[in-house]
Amino acid sequence: MNIAFFSAQDYELDLFRQVNESFAHTLTFLEAPLNPGTLRLAEDHDAVCVFVNDQLDAAVLEGLHALNVQAIALRCSGFNNVDLPTAERLGMKVVRVPAYSPHAVAEHTLSLMMALNRKTHRAFNRVREGNFTLNGLMGVDFHGNTAGVIGTGKIGQCMARILKGLGMTVLGYDLYPSEAAREAGIRFVELDELWTQADVISLHCPLTPETKHLINPRSLAQMKPGVMILNTSRGGVVDTAAVIQGLKTGQVGSLGLDVYEEEGDVFFRNLSDQVIQDDQLARLLTFPNVIITGHQAFFTREALNAIADTTLTNLQELEQTGSSANEVTSTKVI
Ligand code: NAI
Repeated sequence: MNIAFFSAQDYELDLFRQVNESFAHTLTFLEAPLNPGTLRLAEDHDAVCVFVNDQLDAAVLEGLHALNVQAIALRCSGFNNVDLPTAERLGMKVVRVPAYSPHAVAEHTLSLMMALNRKTHRAFNRVREGNFTLNGLMGVDFHGNTAGVIGTGKIGQCMARILKGLGMTVLGYDLYPSEAAREAGIRFVELDELWTQADVISLHCPLTPETKHLINPRSLAQMKPGVMILNTSRGGVVDTAAVIQGLKTGQVGSLGLDVYEEEGDVFFRNLSDQVIQDDQLARLLTFPNVIITGHQAFFTREALNAIADTTLTNLQELEQTGSSANEVTSTKVI
């Protein structure tokens, strides 16, 4: 297939080229993100390959369809940025990478959790300045504390196993409680109980209309004062204004984010010479008890290899059979 590869980053070019040697697709790497202003770059291509912040709303899909693009290959697992009903109406296939390394995301979540608790980010800077004092660096033993995992799928279950390993009680909430999640050590509860019991809340659900702003003034008010919130799922699950307010009052004791509601304008770009225009992001960066990473939870060698292999396999399946095991539709996620 002729594939227009949007939002291409240096780190993935060689890898995709290498993996593609066994597929023989034609890859056109484009630094530009996909949006109404750039979609023309997909002309003469059969498919577009896109990432988490590429725009695939109705207008962009109509534009791609007019250029005769037939397939959308997401090189990620989330598909909240695709207008699936429109893709279906236009007869465009959408494929994704349902699982590449749940361990990568869960382990990164753990690193945020550990650093926030023991203030590793502050200790690192302090020691480099020759300041070996401990004031302000005290943490807690996670052992014996309670964690709440929202979304107990592949990543949520990995996270639960890690949390059990720390000696924590793990509560879980999911629309579809599973036996596999119970085996990972999760005790399913209703959301209200999770909010009130958890010392650490970790978000691993997809962004859907139901999970949009799940962390909001009402849920925050139910939480334990000083709760730690970790979000490595999708930015929109957290109401940023509400969590900033919670940090200011101390209701939120610490916050670890790998994703951010408005990350599309910022993440995956070097803006170090510029003034950050997003006031909420700028405010978040001022808190000593907030750690933000730029959507890197997935970013391990194993995960990237799996992403490249699955993405190119998905497109090959579409080319050869007209369908793929990893197709997503508005009614069905395979
Ligand atoms: P998964 O599909 O295995 O699990 C998601 C779970 O969330 C399912 O059990 C599902 O029933 C549950 N869920 C759906 N709606 C819910 C709701 N309203 N309330 C509670 N639970 C709900 O997905 P996986 O692989 O565990 O990934 C989870 C999310 O992590 C993805 O949707 C994606 O947004 C995010 N992600 C982030 C990455 C990063 O680099 N930061 C990398 C990969 C995924």
